[in-house]
Amino acid sequence: MSLILGIESSCDETAAAVVKDGSQVLGDCVASQIARHAAHGGVVPELAAREHLVAARPVLETALKNAGVTFADLDAVAVTNGPGLMPALLVGLNLAKGIAIGHNLPFIGINHFIAHIYASFLDGGAADLQKKETYPILALVVSGGHTALLLIDAEGQARLVGTTIDDAAGEALDKAAKMLDLGYPGGPVIQKTAESGDPLKYHFPRPLTGGSGKAVAAQHKLNFSFSGVKTALLYHIRRLEEADGKLEGQVLYDTAASYQEAIVDVLCRKTAMAAKEYNVRTVVLCGGVACNSVLRERLPEALPNTANLRLAERKYCTDNAAMVGGLAHYYFAKGEFTPLDVDAFARLPVISKVPFVNFTK
Ligand code: KG4
Ligand code: ZN
Repeated sequence: MSLILGIESSCDETAAAVVKDGSQVLGDCVASQIARHAAHGGVVPELAAREHLVAARPVLETALKNAGVTFADLDAVAVTNGPGLMPALLVGLNLAKGIAIGHNLPFIGINHFIAHIYASFLDGGAADLQKKETYPILALVVSGGHTALLLIDAEGQARLVGTTIDDAAGEALDKAAKMLDLGYPGGPVIQKTAESGDPLKYHFPRPLTGGSGKAVAAQHKLNFSFSGVKTALLYHIRRLEEADGKLEGQVLYDTAASYQEAIVDVLCRKTAMAAKEYNVRTVVLCGGVACNSVLRERLPEALPNTANLRLAERKYCTDNAAMVGGLAHYYFAKGEFTPLDVDAFARLPVISKVPFVNFTK
């Protein structure tokens, strides 16, 4: 049994959640700062930190209240300590340390990337993680900061088999929305604009897929690259503007749809390729971009039918603290606590294992 408070502040969402036994989300609160960053066309780290400071207390109180618990009921406090934006991470990290000291609770630092994967198993899915037939798992983590494929075996050993060599997919969507004057964040607004457009109207490149007739180097077979798609969009906008003036109406809808199509196509093709190559039994789709309706619809069609797709619920795709409190259960169960002098970290470290595979122990 465990009752864990999770805290998340790695980017522009301040979140807290109380999770029971790694699975049951009792109380969950997320405060988004999107409106504050929209004017800047992206997340400003120092502004994010200040907003986290303002939101932290009400978010924490709401999560505890919704869960119907007090600090005295908790078994541990867990917090994302990386990867993410350093000023933003430090707010949640120090808050969690303060709670751990003040309430004499064990403290657990959580890797945000692994938490995104775990999000797909919240609210009742955790039991599947203890079944051998679930493995190997291939996780496509696709967000504003990451686009990566993590392979997880039945012993809990993990290995990154693909990653972006430049921009993340979410970043490519956010930057495109900025170029098209559609606002921030880009993913949802590109999706909305694309709904009225023709995805086959314009062709955007699919880098590292061999689509241009150029052979893909062996080391990039499962890697991603999105900066070329972004550059192609820039030239596309210039060409259209030179010819017709403003990019609007159907031309805008078709542009958004075709651009989104290129990104979704690459994500699906690479994931399907990896799923086949490693003969995986489960594919996990998670991270903010996993909210995308076209991606959610197309990935199952692309996968071999030997692989089961596990889609994180939309509310658990974008940043949240339920995934933090949930994942922390496995460290708690093993008594693996984090020293209170642990620091935050900005970049994704090498991941060689995940904590949630227990049946081999
Ligand atoms: O996981 P997340 O909340 O934060 C990071 O860890 O980065 O992901 C945010 C990203 C943003 O780039 C946003 O544009 C994208 O997720 N996103 C979407 C959608 N909703 C959010 N991308 C495509 N379609 C969506 N519906
Ligand atoms: Zn995230």
